[in-house]
Formats: sequence, C-alpha cells, structure tokens
Amino acid sequence: MSFDYIEQDKKHIAGTYGRYNALITSGKNATCYDDSNKEYIDFTSGIGVNSLGFADEDWVKAVAEQASKLQHISNLYYTKPNIELAALLCEKTGCDKVFFANSGAEANEGAIKIARKKSYDKYGKNRTTIISLKNSFHGRTVTTLAATGQDSFHDFFFPFTEGFVFAEANNFDDVKEKCEDTVCAIMIELIQGEGGVMPLEKEFVKQVEALCQEKDLTLIVDEVQTGIARTGKLLTSEWFDISPDVTTLAKGLGNGLPIGAILLKETVSSVLEQGQHGTTFGGNPIACSGAVQVLQKACKKDFLANVVEKGEYIKQKLLTMEEVEGVDGKGLMVGIRLKTKKSAEIAKLCVENGLLILTAKHKLRMLPPLTISYDEIDKGLNILSKILD
Ligand SMILES: Cc1ncc(COP(=O)(O)O)c(C=O)c1O
Repeated sequence: MSFDYIEQDKKHIAGTYGRYNALITSGKNATCYDDSNKEYIDFTSGIGVNSLGFADEDWVKAVAEQASKLQHISNLYYTKPNIELAALLCEKTGCDKVFFANSGAEANEGAIKIARKKSYDKYGKNRTTIISLKNSFHGRTVTTLAATGQDSFHDFFFPFTEGFVFAEANNFDDVKEKCEDTVCAIMIELIQGEGGVMPLEKEFVKQVEALCQEKDLTLIVDEVQTGIARTGKLLTSEWFDISPDVTTLAKGLGNGLPIGAILLKETVSSVLEQGQHGTTFGGNPIACSGAVQVLQKACKKDFLANVVEKGEYIKQKLLTMEEVEGVDGKGLMVGIRLKTKKSAEIAKLCVENGLLILTAKHKLRMLPPLTISYDEIDKGLNILSKILD
C-alpha cells in the first residue's frame, strides 16, 4: 500500500480506528483486491454488511437505476422503493409496520423510544427502565452505549442516558430479580456478536418472552448483526421460536448502503404518532432499492438452506485444525476459540497473507458474505490453517 495514503489518512481522518495495512479498491463476491492488485478472501463482509458480497449484479443494477432517477426526496413525500421494501419486510417477517433509520444504533434508539412511549401512554412517567444483558452491544450513540452491557463502554462520555439495568445472559433468575415495577422493556441480542459470538439459550429466551407477556413489557430483539439470513433464517428469532414486539435491523439489509429498520409488531405499531420520530436520510430510495434485492434473495428457502450448509461446512473444517479449540455461532456467524494463539495477532497475519477476518473479544470471527462460494471458503480456510500452524 502506498505510503502516501497512510500518511494522508493519519493526517485527515480522526484516529478512532486501528486499521489493517490494506487499501481495498474493488471486489467480486467474497474476493477483493488492493491497490497493488493483491487478492484477499473476505470473511468479514464489511462487518456483516455485504450479504450479497461485492458487486452483486442485481443489487448494482437496482441501486444504479434508482440513483439515475431519484436519489432522495425526504420523508415528506412517498417513494416506491421505500414502500416496496416495507411491504416486503412485513410480508416476510410478519411484522405490522416498519420505521426506516440509517444504522443499527439509530434503529435501537428508535426501539428504546417506542418501548418508553408505549409504557408512558399506559402507565405514565415512572415506568421507564430497560433491562439489557451483560456483555451485550447495542451501538455507539450515548443512549445505545448506555444500553450496552459492558463497563468498558461506560467511560468518558458522561452523563449517559439513565434507565438501563443489566442482567446476566442465560440467567433467568437474575432477569426476574431485576424486573422491578419501573421496568418497561427487555432488550436482547440472540447471539451476542461484538461480545464474542455468544448464543443465548433457547429456554432462557422463551422465559424472557413469557415474562414480557406476563408483565406487559416490550420485548426488543436487536438483530442488527444476526438478521437478514445471517444465521440461516431470515430472522434469528425464528430459531428461537419467539415473536418480539420490536426487532431492529441494519448491517446485512443494506448490502453496503446505510440503512436501519425497526420492525414493529401490532402491539407497538401505532405507538409513535406524527412528529414523534423522524430522520432526514432514513428510508432513502437508493438504499431501499438495494435492500429490496437483498431481501428478495435472502428470504428464499434454498438461499437460507445454503447459509446453514456453508456454516456447517466451515465449522467442520475449522474443527480439524489443531489450534482450534471450538466453534460458536450459527450459520455464517462464526466465532472461533483458539487454544494458544491471540486472535488479534492471527487476524493481522491473515490480512498480510490475503485473508480478511474479524475478531470478537478473544475469538476470531467470521461474517462472510452469505453468497460466498465453496471455492472462496476453501481458499480462505487454507490461508487461516497455514497461519494457525
Ligand atoms: C448487535 C448490534 N447492535 C447494534 C450495532 C450498531 O450498529 P451500527 O454500527 O450500524 O450503528 C451493532 C454493530 O456492530 C451490533 O452488532
């Protein structure tokens, strides 16, 4: 990578990221290239975003056609892609209505507002607390940091939004203990992604859902990372056999363009009235046109079955590697526990050797495009295997 770019980046871009030494310029499906035409296999999909990989032809066509017609007009007017996407999301997920945002954090902010407003309408001002889980991650805004159950995110930016308490994941007694009369909602990730690819137990999740019904609490499921076929179902809540009041989506829905969505069951679909929530960019026609393509493919039975099969194939291959202690996750959301080596060091070596891979806490993490080919999987795993040896 040319020295000049690194210098320019360091000079002009706020230093909030530790970047790998690669300037990526183009890609096709799960293979991309840097400025010297070096090839990389992509096990990251831009952190769970490029569900259809790089440059999917149908997605490119839809986005380019929409960009050449109408890129934005604001939520003051109707647009076709926005309505088409909302209708498709309702049809495929069983939700009643949708609110479009621009990111996961923003979708979660909206979900928190909805839960509190619903409770306010019925119970008044003093029922505002939201139980979230320890080790969760819900975003980087001041409120979603407050909702995140990790101490390391609760520094520097005081005062944080009040009204979040944290219960132990998979410990229903702890949830019940925290569930005082001031609680209005419970917010969970079904597989804690940034927390290290930690799946919740089905029994725990079912108990949480039942508690929400019993106490009239809003159940918010953050599917920003697990949603849109990532685990082999359109929504991961299908694996858990639950029907949350609110589901938040982002990442994989956009395939690279910024979009977030709040899926609202009829229990909450009319909580927010005109003027009570909004966004300038949310639901913009270009992002929505692309997302329609993503959704049309991702909800197909054979597409979903392929995700499950590829996930299983990857898992079995990983388990043959001497250094791999275990594999967590579901579908193409994969956490790799290593016996002796440090995930951050391995990830760096992978990039140097032509493989983009993520970490989550002490694990290596894979979130490849859902369309990754077996050939690309094999190439990537060969690189990983050599490095681990
Ligand atoms: C579960 C979950 N929620 C929320 C977010 C925040 O999403 P965004 O970065 O789009 O704001 C993330 C991002 O990693 C996430 O994994």
